[in-house]
Amino acid sequence: MTENSTRRYKFVVVGTGAMAATMMPTFAQAGVDVTGVLSRDPERSRRFASIFGIPTAGPDLVAYLKSQEVDAVYIANAPQDHATAAIAALEAGKAVLCEKPMAVSATEAERVVDAARRTGKLCMEGLWTLFLPSYERFLALARAETFGEARHLIADFGYPVSEEVRPQLYSLLGGGVMLDRAIYLIALAISVFGPVERMDAQLDFTDGGVDRDVSLQLSHQGGKHSQLTASFTSLMSNTATLACSKGSIRLEPPLVGSETISTQHASLVQPPQETPLPTSVGENLIRSLRAYPQMRRIRRALGILSRRHFWYGRNPYLPELRHFIELLGTGAQESNIVPLQLSLNIQRIITSARADHRR
Ligand SMILES: NC(=O)c1ccc[n+]([C@@H]2O[C@H](COP(=O)([O-])OP(=O)(O)OC[C@H]3O[C@@H](n4cnc5c(N)ncnc54)[C@H](OP(=O)(O)O)[C@@H]3O)[C@@H](O)[C@H]2O)c1
Repeated sequence: MTENSTRRYKFVVVGTGAMAATMMPTFAQAGVDVTGVLSRDPERSRRFASIFGIPTAGPDLVAYLKSQEVDAVYIANAPQDHATAAIAALEAGKAVLCEKPMAVSATEAERVVDAARRTGKLCMEGLWTLFLPSYERFLALARAETFGEARHLIADFGYPVSEEVRPQLYSLLGGGVMLDRAIYLIALAISVFGPVERMDAQLDFTDGGVDRDVSLQLSHQGGKHSQLTASFTSLMSNTATLACSKGSIRLEPPLVGSETISTQHASLVQPPQETPLPTSVGENLIRSLRAYPQMRRIRRALGILSRRHFWYGRNPYLPELRHFIELLGTGAQESNIVPLQLSLNIQRIITSARADHRR
């Protein structure tokens, strides 16, 4: 084992909400020491510190980083405050793991990326789904063209959530279905097909002006397309299907957290193609066999999806965190799975979709 693989890194957590609490056992599992927690409200940070046994708590990130030894900052406050915290941490010479969304606009995301490149410090957006074993497999099958050339991605992510239950999702400052949900779909689409060349976006807004439903049609290089739908209002299929020239690959529900991949070979599911007149004895035999319902049933059974499970274990955020720790160990400045350019491209799509619709 190298020194870096056994080293315990010190993290400070910014934010005391649901996600910060969810990550605490993940840090413990990954062997990270959380040495501080910061909140706008000092009392809340003290309470969080006491629940999770964190030695220090405070209100001000910049002052905190000046006075404490820290390797990395995990940012999990409200989305509208991510960019400011990320830039402050990078400028203080710390690595940053920032919850999604890394920023709430393309301009803000550009500032974070500039700060990361200027300081040379590691910065990664927490697009955790891309690190799940099922997603790794999905992307590997797509890249290896195991089912032929991948041409279309059809993905949706949605279940109803009301403003009463999750008011922050409906906040004009950092809420909206694009930043909360479509972000995962866009990340997957770009990871499969690369940058987006053209986009058509259909958005539906609440009376308060927050996007709550979105359908995106993305065109990528080489005539590849992604059809993405995200919703705060409706239960969707919560799957992602990659349609390829020789079959399909599907991430089964729940898409965000999927542990199952189904695959189908086109030859087993496409409808029988009859020639007007059989041209051989063989064709005639096949034609008459198809007339038997039992044969059709066998064919259908053969065409049933083949399913494989890719468990992530107890904690879906662990693969993402382990990747980030590995990057810290190697001194890398960005992730090859969630590079800064991916975060930037996602924000540009979101900003442009919102702007187009409001024009
Ligand atoms: N990776 C995932 O699966 C996942 C899941 C859920 C959420 N998230 C992301 O994690 C981040 C935090 O989400 P969460 O569910 O933990 O949110 P949350 O519980 O509502 O709040 C997180 C923090 O945001 C700050 N905050 C809350 N309301 C605010 C307001 N009105 N104005 C300014 N700040 C406010 C608070 O920080 P202070 O302590 O400083 O007051 C709070 O500790 C979000 O970016 C979210 O998208 C990711």
